[in-house]
Amino acid sequence: MIKVRVFNGPNLNLLGQREPGIYGQRTLQDVMQELEQFAADCGVQLDHMQSNSEGKMVDAIQQAGEDGVDYIIINPAGYTHTSVAIRDALLSVDIPFVEVHLSAVNSRESFRRVNFFSDIASGVISGFRGESYLLALQAILNRIES
Ligand code: DQA
Repeated sequence: MIKVRVFNGPNLNLLGQREPGIYGQRTLQDVMQELEQFAADCGVQLDHMQSNSEGKMVDAIQQAGEDGVDYIIINPAGYTHTSVAIRDALLSVDIPFVEVHLSAVNSRESFRRVNFFSDIASGVISGFRGESYLLALQAILNRIES
């Protein structure tokens, strides 16, 4: 059974109320429940965490290395555009990861085009709101099967 861990960065705990025109009406709990159901249907062991703190995300990524996680799905949120520390943590544990975004980051403000993750990600899925996470898991499954 493959182990997938999902990391959600700052302000994603406010999904549903936060800029719904950009991020949608669904809460993080709604989105994660749908993903957990999809994972269970596919026989994937999946868990998830959310933090507003960069250090907590680094600690959790290091823990994923110790826990033998096979794949990471990460939405670094605002840290996408700033965090050398989270990038270094992902490189340190050497776990392949898919970067996801609810919004189409490259079609937004120019500062969102600065990205510390895309060049080391297995792939990037952006712009499909909550469905981005399902597509990321499907992409991981396709890669494992091929
Ligand atoms: C985001 C895009 C980021 O630019 C932003 O800071 C977020 C959410 C997304 O999922 O679309 O917090 O990662």
